[in-house]
Amino acid sequence: MASAGHVPVMLGEVLALVDPPAGAVVLDCTAGAGGHLRAFVERVGPHGRVVALDRDPRAHQEDAAGGVAARHADRVTLVQAPFSAARTVLDRIGVERVDALFADLGVSSLQLDEPARGFSFRADAPLDMRMDTSAGETAAELIRRLDERELADVIYLYGEEHKSRRIARVLKRDLPTTTAALAEAVIRAVGDPRMARRGGGIHPATRTFQALRIATNRELDELDALLGALPSLVRPGGRAVVLSFHSLEDRKVKHRFRDEGFTALTKRPQVPSDDEIKANPRARSAKLRAALVGVEPGRDLSP
Ligand SMILES: C[S@@+](CC[C@H](N)C(=O)[O-])C[C@H]1O[C@@H](n2cnc3c(N)ncnc32)[C@H](O)[C@@H]1O
Repeated sequence: MASAGHVPVMLGEVLALVDPPAGAVVLDCTAGAGGHLRAFVERVGPHGRVVALDRDPRAHQEDAAGGVAARHADRVTLVQAPFSAARTVLDRIGVERVDALFADLGVSSLQLDEPARGFSFRADAPLDMRMDTSAGETAAELIRRLDERELADVIYLYGEEHKSRRIARVLKRDLPTTTAALAEAVIRAVGDPRMARRGGGIHPATRTFQALRIATNRELDELDALLGALPSLVRPGGRAVVLSFHSLEDRKVKHRFRDEGFTALTKRPQVPSDDEIKANPRARSAKLRAALVGVEPGRDLSP
């Protein structure tokens, strides 16, 4: 069983855009809990193949994508790797180009709901936030390394936090090493507007946590590398489908599809229905874009 806590976002819309026929080869760049992966596996059938990646070891466990891969070992190859290394992975397993590529960016419920990972201020834990827990610097180390101005820029850009300078000043002074210490430092810097609104509104540290997560995992560099590699990963006329959760990500996807001359399958990004957002609030900022790779708009694709 895939994890009970994770609901795949916009599953119907994603399937309609990835649209893998029986026998297709699909690359799922972000296997996570295996929600979308399971649907691809069913669609491609016994003669198809799904190559799935996730850099987080947690995704490879039995109650996540690891379980889906184990149950469908005949057609799933699950590899622990960042999607910036997708070309290397495909070379290693002898796949030239895939028919469709899917990426569901950002953080999974498996990561958010596991306090020890340090992604959330809902429980106290070391300030880690690395998706790949075997490599790279933690969020606490990042705060220590960046100077105050760089840290403020990260919080402003990736968190869209207008009080970034005040927050950066306090973080550099306090150097928090736990999630609780980070949340308290942000409240010390900007106060807690929820008090005035009797507990309403988001936690004042929400945007700072998001910014530090994006920087710790170099999420935008990873996305740039993936988007740049699309023509080498997907066959001409194949599909690239990306689900993003941040305006910077969505802008990158939109511009790259346009600049590469791909044919957009979504003129505007698709967004979740009100019902989906009600049932799964984590879907609320999702934006879904798709394009035919390497095909200029208006070109005749008929054989
Ligand atoms: C939103 S979740 C995917 C959920 C999945 N589609 C499902 O239905 O279960 C994003 C996943 O992508 C992984 N991830 C994020 N950035 C990655 C990257 N650059 N390379 C590989 N995996 C990445 C995360 O570790 C996380 O497990």
